[in-house]
Amino acid sequence: MADVTLVIDGQTVTVPAGTNIVDAARATNVAVPVFCYHPKMKPVGMCRMCMVEVWTPKIDPATRQVVMGDDGKPVLALMMGKLQPGCVTPVSDGMEVRTGTDKVKFTQKGMLEFLLTSHPLDCPVCDKGGECPLQNLTMQWGPGISRFDYEDKVHFEKPIPLGDLIYLDRERCILCSRCVRFEDDIAGDEVLGFDNRGRAWEIIAKGEPAFDSKFSGNTTDICPVGALTSADFRFKARVWELQPVPSVCTLCSVGCDLTLDMRHNELKRVMPRENDFVNEIWLCDKGRFGMRANTSSERLTTPLIRRNGQLAPATWDDALALVADKLSSAGTAVGGLAGPGLPNEDLFLFARLFRETFGSANLDYRPGSASDPSVDTWSMGMGVGQGTNLLSLGKGSAVLIIGADPEEEAPLYTLRVRGIQSRGGDVTVINPYPTKLGKSANRSLAPKPGTGPQVVLALIKTILDEKLAKIDAYGNRLRGYDELTKTLAGETVEGLCAAAGVSVATVQAAARAFAGADNGIIIFGRLALSVGPALTDAIATLAVVAGKVGRANNGLIGLVDQNARAAIDLGVRPDGKAGMSAREMMAAAQAGTLKAMFVAGIDPAAENPAAAAALNALDFLVVQDLFLTETAQLADVVLPLAAVAEREGTVTNAERRVQRFRQAQRNPADVRAVWQVAQQLAVMVTDGVLVGANGKAGRAAAWNYAVAEDVSDAIAANVRLYANATLAQLSTASGTWGRQSNEQVYYDGTSYENVEGVGVQLPALIEDPKSTVTVSVRVPQSPAADGTLHLIAAPRAYDNGDWGKQSKLAPRMVPAHVILSVADAQALGVAIGERVTLRSGAGEVSLPAQIDSGLAAGLVLAPRVRGAGLAGLMTGAITAVTVLKAE
Ligand code: SF4
Ligand code: FES
Repeated sequence: MADVTLVIDGQTVTVPAGTNIVDAARATNVAVPVFCYHPKMKPVGMCRMCMVEVWTPKIDPATRQVVMGDDGKPVLALMMGKLQPGCVTPVSDGMEVRTGTDKVKFTQKGMLEFLLTSHPLDCPVCDKGGECPLQNLTMQWGPGISRFDYEDKVHFEKPIPLGDLIYLDRERCILCSRCVRFEDDIAGDEVLGFDNRGRAWEIIAKGEPAFDSKFSGNTTDICPVGALTSADFRFKARVWELQPVPSVCTLCSVGCDLTLDMRHNELKRVMPRENDFVNEIWLCDKGRFGMRANTSSERLTTPLIRRNGQLAPATWDDALALVADKLSSAGTAVGGLAGPGLPNEDLFLFARLFRETFGSANLDYRPGSASDPSVDTWSMGMGVGQGTNLLSLGKGSAVLIIGADPEEEAPLYTLRVRGIQSRGGDVTVINPYPTKLGKSANRSLAPKPGTGPQVVLALIKTILDEKLAKIDAYGNRLRGYDELTKTLAGETVEGLCAAAGVSVATVQAAARAFAGADNGIIIFGRLALSVGPALTDAIATLAVVAGKVGRANNGLIGLVDQNARAAIDLGVRPDGKAGMSAREMMAAAQAGTLKAMFVAGIDPAAENPAAAAALNALDFLVVQDLFLTETAQLADVVLPLAAVAEREGTVTNAERRVQRFRQAQRNPADVRAVWQVAQQLAVMVTDGVLVGANGKAGRAAAWNYAVAEDVSDAIAANVRLYANATLAQLSTASGTWGRQSNEQVYYDGTSYENVEGVGVQLPALIEDPKSTVTVSVRVPQSPAADGTLHLIAAPRAYDNGDWGKQSKLAPRMVPAHVILSVADAQALGVAIGERVTLRSGAGEVSLPAQIDSGLAAGLVLAPRVRGAGLAGLMTGAITAVTVLKAE
């Protein structure tokens, strides 16, 4: 966009055309006060706080030429003869803006005096006090006195709940509509609105349940007064008492930057921390309100040893000695499961404990997935290029979302993708069942269950047939291209689309939009990952064929579980045939060939009764976790785990960005990180205390990590991929939006400046010019249309996990249930709420039924939540089931 030069308060400034006066002033460090304007949202000009004098070159109506003065300069005229709102007035060449004239000051004072006529002035008890733009603006621009009669103030009942999480104090509300616009435009949840007129005008929550948005907490940040407060923080502390500690959310694979606001070792609230590469200034409610489990009275506080069939308190020394003895005496018949929620330091030393000390590669981070570990490598090989910033994408960019529901799997990606679309980007969603992003996408395709690969092949075929991209860009790095063309030679786009039950025209439009875009991102989720290589290989091939790999802002984003990216990178998975996956370990435990296991931060017994039986069959089981989980209840030794807030460490997100978090809290109990336990065990086994039964001395004696930083350094020193992810590099804050000295006027109290650094994005393998670029597809058999019902386990953010303990999200947790289409419910004679039994080749479960008019006939959806027992039913990503109506 061309640049525009103007003068603001005597300073000449050049900004892109289209910039509004408030932002142009911000660039010159001139503060124009605002209430309704927020740089993340379109201006609406509602509050009139930003009125300024705007002078533009006078145009001669006869000649349409600029009138020049005697001094040879353009004669300026006051725009429309009166003050203009700066937020909705775009800059223009030759414009002169005056923000501090008497007229402007008079208006600003008047606006604040007017706003305060209906304000309760209850700052001493208001949660926003101390970080309130209304307070700040009143102090800086306000009149000091009011002519208004206090008796005439409007009074509302205060406060009223807008839902489970957010309260509204209507007396404080200045009706700026930031909250409504955030929900409508940024979150895509039309759950708030205005009601009534005049002085009875008010914000209301629409729909049932009220204020049903996974992003509702952000409205409390951007509300410029204390009208919106969270149930989590109300009356908990004054903001100036809080000590902010930089942290990272580990509840999904986005890895949002957040700040833990502490007072006297107590977590008072969770706030977003700015990082344009990750979460901008937003958080989802799961991250914001789901951090309370740390303080649960159900937390494990001491090691437990099973004695006479009962778990009894023990010392760390006794527990670790027993664990070291039992694990080492099992020889290589030991296995380890480390949950994907654990930080990098834990995963790194856990894998080394098994590989180096026990000589075993029986390692996994998944509770029992049957999928080929190679599927995970695609997000690393073809993952988004270094320097990727979704905030920079818009017009000229395309996003494909395949087999994923970002809102439920990694909620912040909903905001990021909606942002790309709002800036002119193109979005296609391919998913067998309806998702929120599917509703707002440019186009949406719902393939029949199990035909995702056919749709992706149809996209590839369209790109090749229509020569939409240049495949020769990869030179002699490309492998498998001839096989690819041979495999697809016998296929037609029409045939593939017919097999999948999707429109040829829509597939072609998606292929043209994606291949023709300057930048392309493919997001694939848990459903795609669980389908396996037939789909993930095709997705990676699609990215290559379209020329969307190997550079910034292009490539794949796999919505893996939490910190699973690091589990893969740091070796918590079997090496090909030289180790067992979780599923193989469970089978070996049942068969008696696997003797002992160490399970950390994961609860396989809760997911699958078969896993519980297998773990029970072991000679020895040690579990380290926050709570006495179902798996821990089966253990011989239980060790209390330190929560993320209670220790230092690093995590890696879905875009391979490594970030650091700090310790915010001291746990009075002696809880420990997994890396500490792994080090202690390794030293005990190999340092002369016990000799490893595998006969190898190992290198554990050299392990001497005093603090988590030592382990972080060891990761950077030993794992080639992480070589540049040193703690010093992670602390680099360059690239953030950053704050300016006048920023509190706009954002105060919203999110924290990023002083910890934005982290380091690891390179994708394909970015190495010496790497090969492999394409590979197979055409799977299309499932027969035999009237079979297909069950899909659908991820849910509010999955009833332990993370939600003590949180205000309890009412939002999704109960175990099953969703039928209208046609199938009618055919089966099932009504809403009735229990039905789902039966597959693996087992059966009984769940209450819901009916969804948006669901295609033949599809049965079951939310993947704790207590649903789906793992005992699923035989693949999509499982054939019989639905029986309970008598
Ligand atoms: Fe603005 Fe806050 Fe009122 Fe919403 S509740 S309209 S954000 S003042
Ligand atoms: Fe410009 Fe409200 S009218 S900030």
